[in-house]
Amino acid sequence: MHTFLIRLIAIIGILALSSCTNYYNPLDDYDQLEPSTILAAPPAAETDYPAEQVSRGKYLVGLLGCGSCHTDGALVGAPVPGRALAGSYTGIAYSNPMAQSRPGVLYPSNLTPDNATGIGTRSLPDLVRMIRLGVNEHGSQTIPVMPWPAYANIEPDDAQAIAVYLKSLPPVNHKVLANITPGQRSTAPFVHFGVYQSKQ
Ligand code: HEC
Repeated sequence: MHTFLIRLIAIIGILALSSCTNYYNPLDDYDQLEPSTILAAPPAAETDYPAEQVSRGKYLVGLLGCGSCHTDGALVGAPVPGRALAGSYTGIAYSNPMAQSRPGVLYPSNLTPDNATGIGTRSLPDLVRMIRLGVNEHGSQTIPVMPWPAYANIEPDDAQAIAVYLKSLPPVNHKVLANITPGQRSTAPFVHFGVYQSKQ
């Protein structure tokens, strides 16, 4: 179900409408890019956490498709080797590019435990709160582009296993682009999910 949703987001997001129309179509300002595939969860490094908990976390991260957003090239183009779960340059627009030519865009974070660019300094309870409640490091709730409402019913033990698995990944130093507020220009590709109806 989730895989389907991600595919739908990717397909709708890059949909370029035909340019042979008489009215102004904001999507004429965008190039169409090739969608990519869902990415499997990468293996964890050696870790002190219980092996069973780490493998449960890996299973859940693969099942829930975290890598499809949080990996360079996994939404558009081809997954970049060595960058699994290390954040993505493909953003996700949260305002409507058909109404606003410069929408707000969020970039999926680096989920590997790199101290400078990833989740290295985040505690396990912090990560669990983000996954289940969307509460970020500043204590405020994030826009549900990161689909935390869909993860809200994950059992606490399972959310903990996900956090432990992420903490056990080999750290990848990869800085994700800063989020874009509406009106700013995005220099990187983005996808957008919306529900539309013809005006006529
Ligand atoms: C539809 C795309 C998408 C999917 C699927 C997704 N995320 Fe995210 N995630 C995001 C975005 C975008 C952000 C950045 C949010 C922001 O900047 O407000 C984010 C942020 C996060 C953060 C915060 C990192 C930090 O440094 O604060 C964590 C942790 C996280 N996601 C974990 C997960 C996990 C675990 C899964 C799978 C269970 C997952 N995400 C699935 C899009 C996604």
